[in-house]
Amino acid sequence: MGRLDGKVAVITGGGRGQGRAHAVTLAAEGADIVICDAPGDIATIEYGMATAEDMQETVRLVEKAGRRCVAVEADVRDTADMARLAERTMDELGRVDALVCNAGVMSAADSTWELTDDQWRDMLDVNVTGVWKVCRAIVPHMIAGKRGGAITITGSTGGLRSVAGCTHYNVAKHGCIALMRTLAWELAPEMIRVNVVHPTGVNTEMSNNEWFAQWIQEHDRLAGPMRGNLMPVDVVQPEDVSKMIAFLVSDDARYVTGTEVRVDAGFMLK
Ligand SMILES: NC(=O)c1ccc[n+]([C@@H]2O[C@H](COP(=O)([O-])OP(=O)(O)OC[C@H]3O[C@@H](n4cnc5c(N)ncnc54)[C@H](O)[C@@H]3O)[C@@H](O)[C@H]2O)c1
Repeated sequence: MGRLDGKVAVITGGGRGQGRAHAVTLAAEGADIVICDAPGDIATIEYGMATAEDMQETVRLVEKAGRRCVAVEADVRDTADMARLAERTMDELGRVDALVCNAGVMSAADSTWELTDDQWRDMLDVNVTGVWKVCRAIVPHMIAGKRGGAITITGSTGGLRSVAGCTHYNVAKHGCIALMRTLAWELAPEMIRVNVVHPTGVNTEMSNNEWFAQWIQEHDRLAGPMRGNLMPVDVVQPEDVSKMIAFLVSDDARYVTGTEVRVDAGFMLK
């Protein structure tokens, strides 16, 4: 018996990293899974996105855990793609109980005034507008199901205290909190809960790629304060975040809504 037996979870950015860990963890709790991801590079993002093969690997791992997994190539920035994601979910699995808004990107600049229009636009489009777009597509199906449900949005410690060099990331992640609070108000009567999880650095491609390593090296004054947590770990693992999300979307958290939870090894107390 899992905490999510018989339920269906939709996860954005499920091709790799935290999204993949969420898929496998929620499947182990009994949920069938729908992942979306958007293979293909984004011009202002200096590391690659997940590939179609990455998405298939998530499918394999979910199936190994004994659950179904539908993989949909869909970009959270694209309204039609999000409508198609909702349609595939309902056609193939017939319901949605949990929505995990996880897809995100990272870029940086030497300062707020040196960011380009394109960097700003791509960041806001993926990291906050994309969250709104997937909610807009999926929420009506959650309401129509009349079974309640739960939404989690992946924030960041950058969305709480901001870090130098990525003002657009900070703005987007702060925006996710506003989105969460508004949705929590609107969806409480439907017994649909909405929360944000704020991870510190996580061991995934986003923080563990050649471009970011070099950026950190070249921007010690900006990056220095970002480094290190209160607890003696450099980064947490994707599964550490997944376990919090599994709790939040389960009935164990049935009256938890409108909140933010940090999985940050104490980073915010520094
Ligand atoms: N890695 C960290 O240190 C860290 C820290 C705090 C918060 N976060 C947040 O965690 C979330 C997951 O990131 P991750 O660490 O797993 O990194 P990741 O780069 O491994 O995974 C992000 C996933 O989102 C997908 N994606 C990107 N743009 C998309 C789009 N437009 N449409 C659909 N999918 C898209 C990518 O292809 C990738 O599979 C992000 O929201 C990120 O901002 C990450």
